[in-house]
Amino acid sequence: MITKEMLHKELSVGQLSARSGVAVTALHFYEAKGLIKSNRNQGNQRRYPREVLRRVALIKIAQRLGIPLATIHDALHALPDGRAPTAADWKNLSAQWRNDLDERINKLVWLRDQLNGCMGCGCLSMEACPLRNFGDVLGEQGPGAHLLEPSERGKSR
Ligand code: FES
Repeated sequence: MITKEMLHKELSVGQLSARSGVAVTALHFYEAKGLIKSNRNQGNQRRYPREVLRRVALIKIAQRLGIPLATIHDALHALPDGRAPTAADWKNLSAQWRNDLDERINKLVWLRDQLNGCMGCGCLSMEACPLRNFGDVLGEQGPGAHLLEPSERGKSR
């Protein structure tokens, strides 16, 4: 049970877990990855500022959206220390992540459509199958080597 006094103090990892619904092990993992920070009390126990609750909520949403941890890390580090993410912060981040989600959805739709062409084929051909040799940009230039000599790199055509 959370008392009125506890609402105004820093949170222990157990309290943060109870309030956020995130397992203690996951909170330790977030901290090890630099997503959240704690202070140490006189007994060397972790104490989390209350704004960490909103950061954890943001992390959980981002993970649900499939945002990589490194991206979440960068987003959280772009926010000022010592305060909870604001509605404006969330608006900016959610707009960025919406674009990222759209890109991934479009890629998945493309992959699904290509898979439709593969179903019942079975060729697994490097030349013919778009999924077998996915992302072969140089292959679009025809067979053979296409990489520039090191001395030619960086020169404009
Ligand atoms: S398996 Fe034949 S086109 Fe992909």
